Amino acid sequence: MDLMNKRVLLAKRPKGMPDASTWQLEELPVPGLREGEALIQTEYISLDPAMRGWIRDAKSYLPPVKLGEVMRAAIVGKVIASKNRNMKVGDYYTGFHSAQLFVVTDGNGMFRIDSNKAPLTTYLSVLGMPGITAYFGLLRIGQPKAGETVLVSGAAGAVGSVVGQIAKIKGCHVVGIAGGTEKCDYIVNELGFDGAIDYKNEDITERLDVLCPNGIDVYYDNVGGEILDTALTRINRKARIVICGAISQYNKKPKGPDNYYLILAARAKMEGFVVIDYFGESETARLEMGQWMREGRLRSREFIAEGIENFHEAFLRLFSGKKMGKLILKVA
Ligand SMILES: NC(=O)c1ccc[n+]([C@@H]2O[C@H](COP(=O)([O-])OP(=O)(O)OC[C@H]3O[C@@H](n4cnc5c(N)ncnc54)[C@H](OP(=O)(O)O)[C@@H]3O)[C@@H](O)[C@H]2O)c1
Repeated sequence: MDLMNKRVLLAKRPKGMPDASTWQLEELPVPGLREGEALIQTEYISLDPAMRGWIRDAKSYLPPVKLGEVMRAAIVGKVIASKNRNMKVGDYYTGFHSAQLFVVTDGNGMFRIDSNKAPLTTYLSVLGMPGITAYFGLLRIGQPKAGETVLVSGAAGAVGSVVGQIAKIKGCHVVGIAGGTEKCDYIVNELGFDGAIDYKNEDITERLDVLCPNGIDVYYDNVGGEILDTALTRINRKARIVICGAISQYNKKPKGPDNYYLILAARAKMEGFVVIDYFGESETARLEMGQWMREGRLRSREFIAEGIENFHEAFLRLFSGKKMGKLILKVA
């Protein structure tokens, strides 16, 4: 029987918050394989804030997704047919590909994963791109030292939750900023952060004075905007500010920090970071984080939405915050 594919196309470039008309769900038969190709049945599609950047028609670290093109996405799936001698039927793969039920690939950019070593979804979360982002962004750019204070925003999310836990492993005093009591309880009581600030209900400046009495040595910024501006008022001399993301600015005209001049007074450093520069070293991160997971020192949570038809509704959870941990769409 011929297999039918469903794929999410970029139909329109949104202005502001994307609406349902941004995407078009297309149904079409799966093509036959050519020599060297394999057919992967997608099981999970990763939903990432970066997708909002990829659909903007602007210069960035990757070319924008074109109108009418299948949306770029990291996936996990199983090989169900193969004319590629390196890719065997039954093996699982992950990689940056596209949001569709069936993927035809020559294997380029896809990595075999072992479903016996870790649950498949962790290859999109802690052992995948977000975990690798947290690992290299914190350790290489943030360079935390034992006893220093690390502040991280987006702290209950895929990247931030791992940043905070690694900073704890490195002996730092760690404070996270997240939206709502449930997320703040989670990062303190389950992940072991030293403190949490609920930016939706608390005064961030007042709470920083209580929770970071010695100032901030590393600020790992996932959100930008007012939270970045406020964090800058409490940085220490020679602080490192990791610009990993700016989700509060993705659906509007971005605004830079008013308090940038405090970087001068503090002789601090603010540095942008893109995880793809570290993909060549990702195995180092995976091995060490895998070990920390086995030792119970690193935990991850995934929020699994279901059905490719619900791509848009699930995607919006990144901006509403209505999810805990890594957001993933299960499609098989
Ligand atoms: N530079 C890189 O290579 C790289 C790689 C991966 C990710 N990133 C960036 O890292 C950041 C986190 O990514 P992620 O995958 O871990 O996402 P995530 O944190 O799992 O999900 C996004 C979270 O952002 C928070 N948020 C949404 N709107 C906000 C706003 N206006 N103000 C403050 N917080 C807001 C929400 O949490 P609350 O409920 O707490 O508000 C939401 O759950 C993003 O900015 C992303 O673009 C960068």
